[in-house]
Parts: sequence; structure tokens; C-alpha cells
Amino acid sequence: MKISDIELPSPYAIAPMAGMTDTAFRRLVKRQGGCGLVVSEMVSSEGLVRGIDRTLEYTEYTEEERPVSIQIFGGDPEKMAEAAQIVQGLGADIVDVNMGCPVPKIAKHNAGCSLMREPEHAAGIIGAMVKAVNIPVTVKMRAGWNEHEINAPELAKRMEGVGAAAVAVHGRTAAQSYTGLADWDLVTRIADAVDIPVFGSGDCLEPEQVIDRLRAGVEGVLVGRGVLRNPWILAQAADIAAGRAPREVTMAERGQFLLDYIDLLLSERVHEPQGFRHSVGASDASSRHDRWVINKLRALGSWYTKGLDNGSHLRTAINSAESLGQLRAFIEGFFFESVSFSTQPYFS
Ligand SMILES: Cc1cc2nc3c(=O)[nH]c(=O)nc-3n(C[C@H](O)[C@H](O)[C@H](O)COP(=O)(O)O)c2cc1C
Repeated sequence: MKISDIELPSPYAIAPMAGMTDTAFRRLVKRQGGCGLVVSEMVSSEGLVRGIDRTLEYTEYTEEERPVSIQIFGGDPEKMAEAAQIVQGLGADIVDVNMGCPVPKIAKHNAGCSLMREPEHAAGIIGAMVKAVNIPVTVKMRAGWNEHEINAPELAKRMEGVGAAAVAVHGRTAAQSYTGLADWDLVTRIADAVDIPVFGSGDCLEPEQVIDRLRAGVEGVLVGRGVLRNPWILAQAADIAAGRAPREVTMAERGQFLLDYIDLLLSERVHEPQGFRHSVGASDASSRHDRWVINKLRALGSWYTKGLDNGSHLRTAINSAESLGQLRAFIEGFFFESVSFSTQPYFS
């Protein structure tokens, strides 16, 4: 599969997820195999244009992640075009535009999904970006703003008309947020109606579902929460597509993934999202960097532990960890030694 002249090694991709799909996580998922494209967390075009360090950190990637798409958000055509040039200058393969975020903080600034309500303006943004860069410009949208304003099919056509190289559609409206089910019939209809590649997104929690979605006619699948629960899902989908049984993942491998994630995060520079000082309660955490890593593990842990036997116990343990040593011990105990987390003294 190709996006313009960028060859993707497979049609399965890691969906952009704010707070989750940092470079460390993407690298670890990519190493498991089957992943054709990684997309960054959404990055503020405003922040990029103003050269804010913390914003630039969200654009970090490594060579092993290629092809890499960096997703930006914003509502001002000139700033979006300038931000696209910055993304191109950073060496990314693709620049993606967020037209799906329903969060009011983003939507009220004419960005994210609210752009779907202003197709003319949205087309102006994409047109300006396409003129400003040589790398492919892609768009990720939802089905529409709400059930009365489902316009992804028209908008996708319009985006194609102004030069978008691919579109991705999460088959829910902004009003739905994450309730209900993604409308894959709608996604398939869009794929039939435009000539550029269409990625579908929504509710693929099992590798078989990823394959079924492709069979239904879309060219690619962006997997979000399914990757957070099971980072091997893309590799397993590739196994099925190749006629092999999906690989089995041992508890030890699952545990090692979290330990490797901790190590990769530790090797990165300090990020300090707003308010994070208060989110780790205890003062024992050895450093700010350690606390940042602990918070990242808490965020991933809330997804990763779903569906695991006694996963809620591990989740509680991770949330109570006050040092990296404790965090590692909880993970090792759970995955390598099957320690029962209902045993209170273990925590002391
Ligand atoms: C925690 C989280 C963060 C997300 N952040 C973004 C984002 O930054 N940009 C974006 O386009 N979509 C974002 N999404 C939407 C996902 O990319 C995806 O389209 C959606 O979750 C549906 O796919 P899924 O059912 O496989 O998770 C986010 C989803 C989640 C769960």
C-alpha cells in the first residue's frame, strides 16, 4: 500500500493517541512486527510555529519507526501551512491533520472535529498545507459532528479535491465520543467513493477484526485502543493475513514490554506536562523524570491491564507505585512470578 510515493510495509497502523503514542511506545510496537505506519500524538500547530520546546518533544521519532506520520491540529491555514513545513523540516514522511478531536478545548479553537462543520475552511487549510510542503498531507476525521451532521463522505471527497493524499475515518461522530459503535459501512462507502487510500478506525480489539475490516474494502486500518491493550495485535493481524496462526504472547513477553517501555522512557529527556507534579501523590519518587515515567506507565496500565486475569489488581498496584523500583517489582511479580496482588503485605 502507498500514500503518494511512500510505500507502507503493511496496511495496519498505530492510530494517533494523545498521551499514549509517544516515540518509545511506537518503537516497541513496531518491533513486534506487522506495523505499516505510526502516527504521532496530536501536536499543536501554534506551539510548533512558536517553537515551544514541549510541543517539539511530541514530534520526536527515531529512524526505526519509519514511515512516520506527525499529526498536527489547528484552525489557521497560514499557521497550519507553516507547521507542516516545520514537520517536513524535521524529516517526517507524512503530515496528518486532526479533524476528529471532539474535546472542547481543541474544538472551540476551530480545530479538531469542529473543522468538519466548516468544510470550506477545512479545504482552505489542507490546500494551503499541500502548497507549502512536498510530503503527503493526510486528514483524519470522524463520521461527522453529530448524528444530524454526518458529512465524512462529502468532506473526504473535498479533501481529495484539494490534494490530500489519504484520509482516515473514525466511524463515530464527535457527539458520540467513544460511545456506541464505529460505523464501518460508512467508512467502506467513503473508500469506494474516493481514489485516495482510506484508513478506517474504530473498535478493532482482536486481530481478526482488523483483517475483516480490510476485507470489507478499506485500504488500511488504524488501530487505537486495541494496540494499548495488546501491542502485538498488528503482528497477529499480519500473521492471519499470511495464513499463519496469530502468534501467542506469553505473560513474560507482556511483562517485558512494560519493563522495556520504562527503560526507553528513562532514556528520554524530561517531559513535564502541566499539573503532573500533583498527579503522583507521594514525595518519595526519586526524581521528576521518574515521576513522569510512573505517570506514563499509569496511563498505559489503565488500558494494558484490561482483559488480563487479575488485571484490575495490577492496575491498582501500578497506580499505587511511588518509585520505579516498586513499579518494576509489581510488574515482575505479576507477569513473571504470578504474585497475587490481593496479598496486602506485598505492597508494603
Ligand atoms: C487515549 C486516546 C487518545 C486519542 N488521541 C487522538 C489524537 O491525538 N488524534 C486523533 O486523530 N485521534 C485520537 N484518538 C482516536 C484514535 O486515533 C482512534 O481513531 C479511536 O480511538 C478509534 O479507534 P479504536 O477503537 O481502535 O481505539 C485517541 C483515542 C484514544 C483512546
